[in-house]
Parts: sequence; structure tokens; C-alpha cells
Amino acid sequence: MVNRIVLNETSYHGAGAIQEIATEATKRGFKKAFVCSDPDLVKFGVTKKVTDVLDNAGLAYEVYSQIKPNPTIENVQTGVAAFKAAEADYLIAIGGGSSMDTAKAIGIIINNPEFEDVRSLEGVADTKKPCVPIIAVPTTAGTAAEVTINYVITDVEKKRKFVCVDPHDIPVIAVIDPEMMSSMPKGLTAATGMDALTHAIEGYTTKAAWEMTDMFHIKAIELISENLRGAVENTPEGREGMAMGQYIAGMGFSNVGLGIVHSMAHALGAVYDTPHGVANAILLPTVMEYNADATGDKYKYIAKAMGVEGVEDMTQEEYRKVAVDAVKKLSADVGIPADLKEIVKEEDLQFLAESAYADACAPGNPKDASVEDIIGLYKSLL
Ligand SMILES: NC(=O)c1ccc[n+]([C@@H]2O[C@H](COP(=O)([O-])OP(=O)(O)OC[C@H]3O[C@@H](n4cnc5c(N)ncnc54)[C@H](O)[C@@H]3O)[C@@H](O)[C@H]2O)c1
Ligand SMILES: [Fe+2]
Repeated sequence: MVNRIVLNETSYHGAGAIQEIATEATKRGFKKAFVCSDPDLVKFGVTKKVTDVLDNAGLAYEVYSQIKPNPTIENVQTGVAAFKAAEADYLIAIGGGSSMDTAKAIGIIINNPEFEDVRSLEGVADTKKPCVPIIAVPTTAGTAAEVTINYVITDVEKKRKFVCVDPHDIPVIAVIDPEMMSSMPKGLTAATGMDALTHAIEGYTTKAAWEMTDMFHIKAIELISENLRGAVENTPEGREGMAMGQYIAGMGFSNVGLGIVHSMAHALGAVYDTPHGVANAILLPTVMEYNADATGDKYKYIAKAMGVEGVEDMTQEEYRKVAVDAVKKLSADVGIPADLKEIVKEEDLQFLAESAYADACAPGNPKDASVEDIIGLYKSLL
């Protein structure tokens, strides 16, 4: 059995890390940056923290900010045209998963124009060339898109989100600066943090998991459960711990895949524009219960990493239950709703379940879930 690990070539971690962007861009001889960010980040001055670094170093750039949460095919195609017009030679993605994913798709299409329709990139795309070099600067502590080989785009016409998996899209440099995350409001911190926890738990229990990714995921679960509450209160320690925890989760799941929490969340994002982290957080405990009997002793280590005491003396049934309870408690403590009543309409269940079943994350789930199983899981949260 051969396992593969793909990670960033270089990554920087810690408060003030964005200063390194100027050094790296200069050292690599980059001429002009195409900065991908979103309108709110521009409005709230988050994007400016990085463009100030570029200004101070006399580095040229152009900002593209027509990116919405759950970014669309159109966001990508408009971005490709704007990149060409800007005559840039590298990308700086400043934002959450939406900005980083859009930058990845733009960078891939610029160097692999045969995929300009975007849709053909779904799944494992056979691109021939690495994307335009990306420097990725996350402003949420959740998706870890700065270190993953994935990006997710929404097909508005077909009402679906599709996942693209391609080592050619990995940012060459990731800059994980917790100060870029400090402006996140409580709700966004909670939702994106629960997305990171979902990555760690799904990545730890996914079919392809192995020792090295287990190591990343367990450490990530520990850091996230220790720091998410603090991050929601905006403590520097909480922000720092979450920045690190979400990144380490990305080092793992990017290389082994996820499961049906993500498949079901993608369907909700596409149909109702539900924020990705909120969808994951609501679904996670229910899917954990469903998957439990296909996870061996893994919930024991999840419970331990989440700080539950006395796990060693528990029966399998007991440690599985406390692991799920610890997730529910963290989710409730940070203010995530417990069900989908406000989100899902009963008449959409068949479409949502079929869409989740066909999602690229579904085959990695520890248990093979049928469309009927998935309908049942959504229903249990209504
Ligand atoms: N590439 C991957 O591996 C991967 C993994 C998981 C999820 N995703 C995708 O990422 C997207 C979600 O990304 P996200 O959860 O990071 O959120 P996002 O990028 O969609 O941003 C959500 C909102 O938060 C705001 N925001 C972001 N950072 C902020 C800050 N520091 N201060 C104030 N406001 C801020 C943005 O302006 C935006 O309005 C989804 O499309 C999801 O499918 C990708
Ligand atoms: Fe996610």
C-alpha cells in the first residue's frame, strides 16, 4: 500500500506572518499580483492588511473582489478574464474558502485553458500544468483551503456544489496569520471553527485514513476543542490555536478525503446558500452516530482529544456516546443551532439526498450510505 502526502512548499505561522509575503514575492521574482478577495473583506479593511504590505514593499497588484460565499462558476470565469486583463503573474488569495477556492480555479484555468467551462474540473481533473503560483492568506479558521488540494464551486444553474481535487491547485505558499482572523464576528468564528472540527473528525474516520493523517487529525481535534470557545471570545490564544488547528486538519483531510457530513452540507450550500460551517456543524453529531459502528475504536481517541476524562475505562458504547456528546456540547457552547428546521424544506429531501449521494466526498465515508439513509439523516434533524 502506497500513501501520498501533498503539502504546501512553504508555510508561515503566527501573528505578523503576512509581512513575509513581500519577502517571498520579491525573492521569487513575481512581478504583479492578482489579489482575490471578497467585497466584505475589502469593506472591513481585512484585504488592506495585506495590500499595505505590498504597498510598503512597492509591489504591484490588482484587486479582484467579485467573489460571493459559496463561489460560482461565473465568479471564476469573470476572474479568469480579469486576471488576463491585469497581466498578473501570481495570485494572492485573501479570504475564507470562497476567495481561496476561486483563486485556485482561476489559477488552474489560466494554465490549463481547456477547462475554461469550469464544470469539467469536477472530481479528479486531468490538468497537465500546475496552476499560477498562489500565496494563500486565510481570514477564517475553517476550510484550510490554503493547504488542501481541493476547491469547491457552485453550479447555480444545476443547484449543486462540486468538489475539484487536483494537486496542481495547492498554493505554493500559505500564510496563516491569526491577526487576519481577529475581525471575524462570533457566529462566523463558530461556524468556520466547526467546519475545521468536521474536517478533523471526518478525515480521521474516512476510509483512506492512515497513521500519518491520523496524527494530524488527532492533534487538530485537540487544538480545535481547546481553542474554539476562546476564539469565539476573540482571545489571542484562541485565535492562534484555531489558526493552527484548522491548518493541521487540512494537512490531513486534503490527503485522504472526508465523508457524508460534507456531502450533505454541500447540498445545503447549493440549494439554500447555507454557510458551509453551519451546515457541517448541525450535521456532524447525527452522522457520527450513524457512522459509529464502522469506526472501530476511533471515537475513543476523539473523546480523549476533546478532553473527556475516564475514557480508558469506558465500554465501546460509552466512549462512542461521549465522543458525540462532546461534539454536541462544543457546538451548543458556540451557538450553533441543533437542527435543520429553519433551513430544509421537506419537499427538497429527495433532491438533497441524491445530490449528497453523488458528491465527491461520499465514497470516503466509513459506511456506504444509500440515498434512503441520507434522507433519513436529514429527516432526523427536521
Ligand atoms: N478548498 C477546500 O478544501 C475547502 C474545504 C472546506 C470548505 N470549502 C469551501 O469554502 C467555502 C466556505 O469558506 P469559509 O467558511 O472560509 O467562508 P467564506 O470564504 O465563504 O466567507 C464567508 C463570509 O465571511 C466573511 N469573512 C471572512 N473572513 C472574515 C474576517 N476575518 N472578518 C470578517 N469577515 C470575514 C466573508 O467576507 C464572507 O462574507 C465554501 O464554499 C466551502 O465549500 C473549501
Ligand atoms: Fe469543509
